[in-house]
Amino acid sequence: MPKLIITGGKRLSGTVSISGAKNAALPIMTAAILSSGKHILKNIPDLIDITTMSKLLETFGASVERDRDCLTINTDALSYAEAPYELVAAMRASVLALGPMLTRFGKAKIALPGGCRIGARPINLHLLALEKMGAKISLEEGYVIAKADKLKGTDIFFETPTVTGTENIMMAAVFAEGATRLNNSAMEPEVKDLADALNSMGAKIKGGGEGLIEIEGVTSLKPLNYSIIPDRIETGTFISIAGATESDILIKNCEIRHLDAVIDKMKEIGVTFNNEPDGLRVIGPKKIKSANIKTLPYPGFPTDMQAQFMVLMALSDGISIIKETIFENRFMHVPELQRMGAMIDTDINTATVKGVKKLTGVPVVATDIRASASLIVAGLAAVGTTYIDKIFHIDRGYDKIEDKITRLGGDIKRVDD
Ligand code: EPU
Repeated sequence: MPKLIITGGKRLSGTVSISGAKNAALPIMTAAILSSGKHILKNIPDLIDITTMSKLLETFGASVERDRDCLTINTDALSYAEAPYELVAAMRASVLALGPMLTRFGKAKIALPGGCRIGARPINLHLLALEKMGAKISLEEGYVIAKADKLKGTDIFFETPTVTGTENIMMAAVFAEGATRLNNSAMEPEVKDLADALNSMGAKIKGGGEGLIEIEGVTSLKPLNYSIIPDRIETGTFISIAGATESDILIKNCEIRHLDAVIDKMKEIGVTFNNEPDGLRVIGPKKIKSANIKTLPYPGFPTDMQAQFMVLMALSDGISIIKETIFENRFMHVPELQRMGAMIDTDINTATVKGVKKLTGVPVVATDIRASASLIVAGLAAVGTTYIDKIFHIDRGYDKIEDKITRLGGDIKRVDD
């Protein structure tokens, strides 16, 4: 099993280039199901999750080729097929094939994703919306089976804004009869990127990235030729690295408009930002100030940045309260950070973090994508050597992170145990 070994305590400097957004690339790859032909997608990060999504599309009969950051997906031979349990279990975002498959082929069969490490993560809101559009849904032997000769446009109200739910239903609605209105839809930039990508194929979607999305059904779409937005969570992770290590980093290819809540909090704790012609320059403070955060749907503070921000609070000058309101089990990094010397108490969805002067490198275990990112931030800031095990989690979501950190002067190595 490969491990990351980080010797911390170094200040980093130089330039880092942000890759395309995982959570925009995955739904946009499933949008390729909606049309036969040759789809070109640019700025696609090199990640295990992208490989898993490619395998899923191949299971449906597509061919997928990568040339650097460009994916060519040929869907001429794509037809109805099931999304098997192995792929859905490896990556929940496989459920994004449900809407496109159903609307294109009149049926879809997708393994039901079970609970996952960060929470129960049901897909009831995806299914309720499809039923409201006229689909017959059944659950058989661990699979969701959806059938509808023709989906019908209707008004849908999401009880809670769901990112992949909004994306799934937006894709289902592109071929529905008439207009579909998605109320209380998720406003994440990745949802807007999918709407933009679908519109570039000929869909008629208004309001992508807003709380009300209106989709007018069309009868056909043309293949994609689209470039994905930069990854705001990777950007936020590098801001956290600069913040935790008193470093001076120029972040290129990022979209700071997508990071308002994160940048505001980072400023509050003492991180300095300069907008430069080449990118965003981030300078970590000598002393990190404590601050409270509450994770919220976009444009609030993202749950995907909670773990990384906690490391900064663990090194701050006071006491911080971190409330996780999106997922019920997203504090798995806490015991690992405690082993590194962080003083953190948790009570259900609230963590109280008392800043300490230093963290110490020890062996730790990565438990999910963002928890592993927090361990990298902590390892770079810590005194001594941190050994991170189960790093496939990081490879699911971060494109060559150790190369990027090495180029900034960080001491990080991947070793095969
Ligand atoms: N929810 C329901 N029913 C549903 C759908 C969601 O109750 O049918 C609840 C969830 O349990 C959760 C809340 O609604 O409490 C929000 O979940 P959402 O559906 O928005 O999450 P998701 O679509 O499964 C995406 C990202 C996650 C990110 C969340 C929140 C992708 C592929 N995944 O998940 O990304 O944390 O939105 O922003 O877009 C990651 O990249 O590490 C990651 C976990």
